[in-house]
Amino acid sequence: MNADELRSKYVEFFVSKGHVQIQGKSLLPENDPTVLFTTAGMHPLVPYLLGEEHPAGKRLVDYQKCIRTGDIDSVGDTSHLTFFEMLGNWSLGDYFKAGAIEMSFEFLTSPQWLGIPMEKLGITVFEGEEGVPRDDESAEVWKKMGIPENRIAYLGREDNWWGPAGTTGPCGPDSEMFYYIGDAPCGPDCKPGCACGKWLEIWNDVFMQYNKDAAGTYIPLARKCVDTGMGIERTVTILNGKASVYDTEIFAPIRGEVEKAAGYVYGSDEEKDKSVRIICDHLRAATFILGDPKAVSPSNVGAGYVLRRLIRRAVRHGRKLGIAKELMLSPIAGVLIQQMQGPYPELLENKARIVEELDREEKKFLETLQKGEHEFEKLLPNLLKDPRKVMPGRLAFKLYDTYGFPIELTEELAAENGMKVNRGEFDEAFKKHQELSRAGSEQVFKGGLQDHGETTTKYHTATHLLHQALRTVLGDHVAQKGSNITSERMRFDFTHPAPVTSEELKKIESIVNEQIMNDLPVSVEIISLDAALNSGAIALFGEKYESQVKVYTIGAADAFFSKEVCGGPHVERTGSLGKFRIQKEQSSSAGVRRIRAVLE
Ligand code: SER
Repeated sequence: MNADELRSKYVEFFVSKGHVQIQGKSLLPENDPTVLFTTAGMHPLVPYLLGEEHPAGKRLVDYQKCIRTGDIDSVGDTSHLTFFEMLGNWSLGDYFKAGAIEMSFEFLTSPQWLGIPMEKLGITVFEGEEGVPRDDESAEVWKKMGIPENRIAYLGREDNWWGPAGTTGPCGPDSEMFYYIGDAPCGPDCKPGCACGKWLEIWNDVFMQYNKDAAGTYIPLARKCVDTGMGIERTVTILNGKASVYDTEIFAPIRGEVEKAAGYVYGSDEEKDKSVRIICDHLRAATFILGDPKAVSPSNVGAGYVLRRLIRRAVRHGRKLGIAKELMLSPIAGVLIQQMQGPYPELLENKARIVEELDREEKKFLETLQKGEHEFEKLLPNLLKDPRKVMPGRLAFKLYDTYGFPIELTEELAAENGMKVNRGEFDEAFKKHQELSRAGSEQVFKGGLQDHGETTTKYHTATHLLHQALRTVLGDHVAQKGSNITSERMRFDFTHPAPVTSEELKKIESIVNEQIMNDLPVSVEIISLDAALNSGAIALFGEKYESQVKVYTIGAADAFFSKEVCGGPHVERTGSLGKFRIQKEQSSSAGVRRIRAVLE
């Protein structure tokens, strides 16, 4: 079973069950303001899972390109991918547990579809926790289908609960399907979660029953829904008995290209294999991001920053493999585009752009490398004066942070000059930096941004100015209740007991414009939540924060205009915002006012 077959069989099966095939959406989310990328098939469907009518009806099926960058640094092992495809079927208030499970069972076991033998299957269901009862209903349906009791494991929220990570939205208990990769289960009680470790998950049926609100309360959905997800790469790997996704036909064409370029045969050296995997994975993700109709370019913020990291990490590993070509990525991308253009015609349509952007970013990175080498040369005379021949880690980190110069190269250059780098000190600085970027991506889940383009970033900074201006004019009781940003306007909801007078609105508007005229710097730091609050930062009331938070300061550190706990991104200086104009002020709900404003 290859990826193309799995994709078409899945869609065909659910269409035969009354589902309408819908188009997978962009990798850059539209209606979900809480993520940088589409991270699961359900993301584009959130409004419908929450009750909106879908124009295609109540039964839907699709395949969706997804990117998860949370563990970008662990990519390189044999299973983690940043880019992957997810198959999904949805019931929007139509069938629920019984219907979903019966169809999953048929697709998995019927010889007409996947034909997986019963003895290879195991199931998990939710064991019940925090006021939500054990999901006996699902277990009963599985048993009715013929799954024996000893193949059903009851697990807790960690395993059998699904909801968008760390944020609000539709969620509920799920039931996962596992495939046993051994010859026969290791004993009579062998089921998913067994210590033999041979049960691998292939599919997840989520029973959306609740909407988790900002206060963390689970509110029952008016209309119960089903969201299921089957990862194509993972399922193809398992069904074909492969140990790693990189050994499947999905990766064969591009892995072959990398091997050819490097003059290396995969499987002969673990370190080199890892580099091959990183190039394959990152190039796939970068090609799909660049080929997306939304057209993100490499940059230093948001999705563009992730794209830049993916490309540069791939180039870096190409060099490690000894690939000598000046531009290595775009020829491999060409092979991928050829391979994936059937299900994703946008890749071919945007081929010129993909190639151009990859080439440009690769060249830029090579220049960075040269610059880093040059900077190292400049440091060298001083470094050589140290009798211990140790290069301080903070200098190595500066080369990394300022010029993007990789530590491995600094170490190589140091070694050529008889020196060592203080790696402990470097690692410490690097860890701090990583926490900063990680906190950034986590906080993005909690933001209220619709995208991270230049204009919305400007609006985002404007919300901070407005927030502070409101507090200055109306008083410190003003607290942000929510914001919504599009590239055309911003909306800002805040607590205030009465309509804001036009005189007050004028004052607020002119304070914001004054701060824009002052061209204040915007800076960011990671500190503990307590330290943030003690230093006068505003945090959102009722929001749950990690112990370390990202804080944005607008203005000088000792005389700031605004300071907020926030995920970003923001502009570097307020001067770039343009003119701020309030268009409307109205009631939003009891005790909450709403301002609509534009930047002109
Ligand atoms: N949302 C669930 C997942 O991503 C099922 O689609 O696993």
